[in-house]
Amino acid sequence: MLIGLDEALRYAQKNNIAIAAVNTPYFEGLLGTIAAAEKAGVPVILQHAQVHESTLSIDDIGPAMLALATRSEAPFVLHVDHGEDIDYIARGLDIGFNSVMIDGSTLPYEENVARTTEVVKLAKERGVGVEGELGVMTGNENGDPSQGIADETLYTEPAQAKEFVERTGVTALAASFGTVHGMYHQEPKLNYELIEQLRDATGVPIVMHGGSGLSLDEYHRSITRGVRKINYYTYAAKAALDAALRAADEPNTILFPKVAKAVSAQVESDVAEFIQALRPGA
Ligand code: 13P
Repeated sequence: MLIGLDEALRYAQKNNIAIAAVNTPYFEGLLGTIAAAEKAGVPVILQHAQVHESTLSIDDIGPAMLALATRSEAPFVLHVDHGEDIDYIARGLDIGFNSVMIDGSTLPYEENVARTTEVVKLAKERGVGVEGELGVMTGNENGDPSQGIADETLYTEPAQAKEFVERTGVTALAASFGTVHGMYHQEPKLNYELIEQLRDATGVPIVMHGGSGLSLDEYHRSITRGVRKINYYTYAAKAALDAALRAADEPNTILFPKVAKAVSAQVESDVAEFIQALRPGA
């Protein structure tokens, strides 16, 4: 079943957990993530980022995400991740996505406010929640190994975050406080005090991007200070590739579906572990 971003974040707040927000730009990843969510019994956010268009279009995987999430008894949010322009976000909404992110974080501040406000207006008309982003995170979700080092000069500033949230009306705020997208090339060093300041200043749930590669303690300390949605892609996609290579190498593998099945099973166990890691009290 589908639930709204608001409802999922309220659930997270009430239970002091963060919601796993998993990018599934491959069908086996989608099947594995749905299976993990069904067993976990907590809401999960399925997402597709605009940057994934280079390998799989939202027009192809989006309807499958919608159909599988809707028929499931488990609660899912269908989220457009890192929407860069309003046309892409509208495309997601037309498919049936019920939550969106507009990422104006690399724009000058006033342009970020203007673009985010425009998306909030469109989303409100459709009864959909919006995640905005302020402060820049380095790295990307394309497996590019050249990045992965946090830059403190780009961290989100609490007073500006407060103004951003007030002016745009976003439901949740993605912020920069020490995580990076993709693989870490340096030990992550999260600024927990900043997370707390951002939560207190804005009054909205804080979203962590770059959820791959952190320790249990790092997840738990971030959650306790106000992170309620954690985005996750690289590690599951890497586990999927490793499983594919292993399965392809088995002597009795002669057709692809056997590899695909091994990938779904691997993503299921990887995502199940991630969901479990986001429950500090469990
Ligand atoms: P990772 O790829 O580092 O897990 O981050 C995913 C993400 O933040 C998607 O928006």
